[in-house]
Amino acid sequence: MVLSGNDKTNVKNVFAKIGGHAEECGGETLERMFATYPQTKTYFPHFDLAHGSAQVKAHGKKVASALVEAVNHIDDIAGALSKLSDLHAQKLRVDPVNFKLLGQCFLVVVAIHHPSLLTPEVHASLDKFLCAVGSVLTAKYR
Ligand code: HEM
Repeated sequence: MVLSGNDKTNVKNVFAKIGGHAEECGGETLERMFATYPQTKTYFPHFDLAHGSAQVKAHGKKVASALVEAVNHIDDIAGALSKLSDLHAQKLRVDPVNFKLLGQCFLVVVAIHHPSLLTPEVHASLDKFLCAVGSVLTAKYR
């Protein structure tokens, strides 16, 4: 997934606007993913997945921070998320299809909080970015 210069600018703008509440967006994204695609819950049998769960919020923070890290190193996402890529490939072995589901939910959360931000063009750039992150996190599967 190759991001153009324009895509990178669009993605950076989105995250600049989300700013301080990126972490909450992460939690909301997970809550939506678990509700809309219940099969994703199978990877979290050890989590309390009830509405408002502190564990989901805390995990959402971690996911959002990883996305911010990827944005901050948008020219080297593979390098920035290398450890996370090892973890998802070697230990978690999450089916790659689930990354699309998480990405969709993140797009919906951004659309809800920043409706004017998500023009079709920005939507496309953000989708490409999320696909790029998903590719990196599933790149080391053997
Ligand atoms: C753990 C990021 C997609 C399942 C993690 C961690 C991060 C992360 C930062 C914590 C690592 C640590 O504690 O060192 C991401 C990002 C994703 C993504 C950025 C995509 C944009 C997914 C998907 C699933 C998943 C789609 C499954 C549906 C898990 C599980 C853990 C984990 C089960 C371990 C949770 C725990 O026991 O604490 N992920 N993840 N991840 N991720 Fe992902």
